[in-house]
Amino acid sequence: MSKITSSTLLKFKQEGKKFTALTAYDASFAGAFDSEGIDVLLVGDSLGMVLQGHDDTLPVTVEDIAYHTRCVRRGIKRSLLIADMPFMSYATPEQAMTNATALMQAGANMVKLEGGHWLLETVTKLTERGIPVCAHLGLTPQSVHVFGGFKVQGRDADNAQRIIDEAKAIEAAGAQLLVLECIPAALAKSITEALTIPVIGIGAGADTDGQILVMHDVLGISSGYIPRFSKNYLAQTGEIRSAIRAYIEEVDTGVFPAAEHTFS
Ligand code: KIV
Ligand code: NA
Repeated sequence: MSKITSSTLLKFKQEGKKFTALTAYDASFAGAFDSEGIDVLLVGDSLGMVLQGHDDTLPVTVEDIAYHTRCVRRGIKRSLLIADMPFMSYATPEQAMTNATALMQAGANMVKLEGGHWLLETVTKLTERGIPVCAHLGLTPQSVHVFGGFKVQGRDADNAQRIIDEAKAIEAAGAQLLVLECIPAALAKSITEALTIPVIGIGAGADTDGQILVMHDVLGISSGYIPRFSKNYLAQTGEIRSAIRAYIEEVDTGVFPAAEHTFS
């Protein structure tokens, strides 16, 4: 079983093969997700919410992500491992290089950053120096207080056009992967078609190249509520490994995400 790399994901896109991603924060779950066939694991700064119990992702530190990246790395044999760069850890290109270095040395294969036009120089510098970048557009949770809540983005024409422009620019700057979060399905479809690099969606409809979910949502143990775009696979399978296989199967066959998980 060969390791998943950015080239593998690009090949999946070119072949029209849907791929799956999940968040993971420790070696045991990472090992199970990896062996069941999840292609991409993300040490998300969602850990601020699902592990630490905060209301948003802003309190998460580089050391938090580095610690969980080291844990997840020990559980992985095949999956590509992405680590989130936390709030304000990449405000300047220099900060980004220092902090991304720490995450790569903790075992990440790629780092993920939230933002568009203001990040272009940072994306180029990281990539030129050997650090692959996954961009993240749409509902970027680190900006929740600017958005005034966790709200679907790209619903009006100006905002939609801005996301399209930023997606193209960030690909041109060197990003090798893009996450689109909580945007209308039609917008995500047109961005996915316009880009060469693979696009992973969450709350972005069925037409992105891959899907990503937060593991706590898939297993139905998020405190409070499950977001509308997510799905509790443990409820329908009763067993963790079967739940993961059901998620992979439903993405592969286009059953998930269904209309009820999608924004228009
Ligand atoms: O932090 C996270 O888990 C994420 C995914 C939801 C994409 O960024
Ligand atoms: Na994140």
